[in-house]
Amino acid sequence: MSDLAKKKIEVSGLSVSYGGVTALDSISLDVYEHEILSIIGPANAGKTTFLNCINRMIDSIPDARVQGTVKIDGDDVRQVRDVNALRRRIGMVFPLPVGLPMSIYDNVAYAPRMAGKTDKTRLDELVERCLRQSALFDEVKDRMGDLGTKLSGGQQQRLTIARALSMEPEILCLDEFSIAVDPVTTMRIEEVLKELRKEVTIVLVTNLVQQAKRLADRTALFLDGKLIELDSNEIIFSRRTADQRTFQYVQGLFG
Ligand SMILES: Nc1ncnc2c1ncn2[C@@H]1O[C@H](COP(=O)(O)OP(=O)(O)OP(=O)(O)O)[C@@H](O)[C@H]1O
Ligand SMILES: [Mg+2]
Repeated sequence: MSDLAKKKIEVSGLSVSYGGVTALDSISLDVYEHEILSIIGPANAGKTTFLNCINRMIDSIPDARVQGTVKIDGDDVRQVRDVNALRRRIGMVFPLPVGLPMSIYDNVAYAPRMAGKTDKTRLDELVERCLRQSALFDEVKDRMGDLGTKLSGGQQQRLTIARALSMEPEILCLDEFSIAVDPVTTMRIEEVLKELRKEVTIVLVTNLVQQAKRLADRTALFLDGKLIELDSNEIIFSRRTADQRTFQYVQGLFG
């Protein structure tokens, strides 16, 4: 990544504890605009906690204590007064698709409508664009009125991505999106993400080391709440890692 690349997210000294137990331990890292940054690491490494700090979902966990800063475009997210406005800038895709019990069309149109976009023609255009961007449009174009929950798991996950895109976010965070998705759909979504990075900045938490290798520009390894190493994929997936644990984790020797 060149020194001229713009920092979209700047994380500094970020620590989180739940009821006194440390989950993230002084994480500092930057995410550049239009890159795909992967975060890998075993269970309980703090990956999901990290994503939850970006859009302040962490606020909804009563025992969570957060220290340090997360800045987006230079602004501290914890100083933001309108959390909903912040969250509209950050699309989130969770491990299991969460289909809203409404039509395919409405799943995508819901958030824009809530934000006051009600013009039918423009909504139609937006829904189609988001469904195309998530590689779902051709499969659902003739049944937009069907319940989203009737789609297959892989289709529902793509619907979740379409929904995340419906607010035209600047940042897209994905948390192990392929856990419930077959390999073919996973590859399709990976293609989608490669295209999307032209428009958004992507933070991809994945338990699939090979997925990080295929997709990301840079990869970070988290272990026990600590950032062990963050570097270009060229380094992380080589023998030249700065930390021996990175090499071992990537080789599948633990985790
Ligand atoms: N709501 C919570 N309350 C208490 N402890 C929590 C909570 N959420 C996470 N933790 C703890 O924080 C640590 C980090 O969890 P986190 O979910 O961020 O890890 P992860 O890397 O996403 O793991 P996984 O790969 O299993 O999803 C774990 O020890 C976990 O038990
Ligand atoms: Mg997790």
